Parts: sequence; C-alpha cells; structure tokens
Amino acid sequence: MTARIIDGKALSDQVKAQVSQRVDELKARGITPGLAVVLVGEDPASQVYVRNKAAACEKAGLHSRVIRLAADIGEEQLLDLVRDLNHDASVHGILVQLPLPKHMNSSKVIETIAAGKDVDGFHISNAGLLMTGQPLFRPCTPYGIMKMLESENVSLWGAEAVVVGASNIVGKPMAMLMLAAGATVTLCNSKTRDLGAQTRRADVLVVATGKPGMVTGDMIKPGAVVIDVGINRNEQGKLVGDVDFESARKVASAITPVPGGVGPMTIAMLLVNTLEAAERSAVQVPVTQ
Ligand code: GUN
Repeated sequence: MTARIIDGKALSDQVKAQVSQRVDELKARGITPGLAVVLVGEDPASQVYVRNKAAACEKAGLHSRVIRLAADIGEEQLLDLVRDLNHDASVHGILVQLPLPKHMNSSKVIETIAAGKDVDGFHISNAGLLMTGQPLFRPCTPYGIMKMLESENVSLWGAEAVVVGASNIVGKPMAMLMLAAGATVTLCNSKTRDLGAQTRRADVLVVATGKPGMVTGDMIKPGAVVIDVGINRNEQGKLVGDVDFESARKVASAITPVPGGVGPMTIAMLLVNTLEAAERSAVQVPVTQ
C-alpha cells in the first residue's frame, strides 16, 4: 500500500478563503477582526511562527498587531500588557507565543488572558469547556487535525484513536476532540511501555512528540490514517516530522506530510478562532477580566 498524502496546504487555503469571506461580511457591519500576538524574546522558531501568523491574518483581511518584548521584561509588565489588550475593543484575539522565557510563569500569563479572547484555547476555562463537551475555542492544531480528518471522510465514530504526546497544546485537547467525535482514545506519553503495541491498534494515529522519526512503519497498523504534528530539523537541515515518512507511507492508507500537512492548518484555525471571537463580540458584551 502507498498512502494517500493529505494536503494540509490546499485545505488550509480553502479554510482561509472561507474566513476571508466572513471577514468581509463582518467588515460590512463595521467590525474588523483583530488579533494581538505577543512575542517575548528572540527565539528563532517563535519569530518565524509569529511572522507567519501575522502575514496570514493580513492576507485574510484581519488586523494583526505584533507586540515584541525584550526577553528580560518583567512578568508584571507582560501581565499589564495582557490586561490592556483584554480591555481593547479592537482586539478580539490575544495570543502569547510560547515558550516564554524561564523567569515567567506561563500558566499565570495564559490565565490572565480573557477567556473570550483566548484564541489559542489554552486558558483553563477553555480547557475545561472542551473537556466537558462545550468548547468555546478549540486549540488550533487539534482543531485543524479534526478538519483534515473530516475533509478526508475519516470517521471517528467507534474508531480506535491513539495520540502519542500528552501536551496541553496538542495531545490532551486532541484526545478530547476525538473522544467527543466517538473514538475510543488512547493517550500515550514518554513513559508508555511498548509504544508500538499501542500505536499498532490505531485506526487513526496522531503523533506529537517533538522527536524526529519516533514512529516508524512497523509501529503502524496497515491502512491506518497517520497525522504527524512534528516539525523538526534533521542533521541535513531538512524539515522532518515525528513519523518516519518513508516507512510509514508504505503501511498507512493516508498520511500528512511535513511540511505541508498539519502546520498550515494550525494557522488557518487561528484565523477561524479570531474571526469567531469577533463575530461573538458583534452580538455580545466582550468577556474581560
Ligand atoms: N508555541 C508553539 N505552538 C504554539 C501555539 O499554537 N500557540 C502559542 N501561543 N504558542 C505556541
């Protein structure tokens, strides 16, 4: 078997075109959706991500404001900035790029973002809403993966889904979304014994470990759908995922490439979340802290 390649770039373009249309409708009502992106420090990968997020916003007609702060800024100054953004009516979404410098408490910073503007879906209220089946903002990467599965007509109802990597950003919300869609979900972590025995049960396998090539073809059930969240650089400087693509594609029925798979969808769903925050602001008093 040679797996079908799931084209995240093409799907993200479709999603972004739909966003753009809804942005125009909102603008006609006098509201321009606005995203504030806060970047603390000089982390090279974060700088690239933030630049891409801002560019995608502008292209789809949303307003973006990137606020760059020095790595040694005090936590209280960052919290004050977030509080100001919470009260700024032109800002519908707030994203503080992670990781933050070590002297900062990321949870405290995230919890200071107004839950109604938390377009990352990382706030404890949004995590709780997701867990109880009433999501407000779904974290962008798992949300994008759900869109990909839907567009590929992959049914999760009664399926065995295995997620490798249990982060708050990807693995845990991914498990919740697939559970809500009717899958039997196994969430693996770095302590999982005999990882292959778990992954080989998966009809749908999502890998988000940050370890290049960690899942190989022999760990995949023939015909499984494989979603690779990893973005790593190998020794040759080439971008690779957490799945060994060459061996996996011989076993899977469908697989996401790196690059061009999950990555573009993450940004597209950030636009969706920001647009929906702005749409809600048009009919509701904004949620602030
Ligand atoms: N760092 C890596 N991924 C993300 C993300 O989705 N959101 C934020 N805020 N930081 C990140």
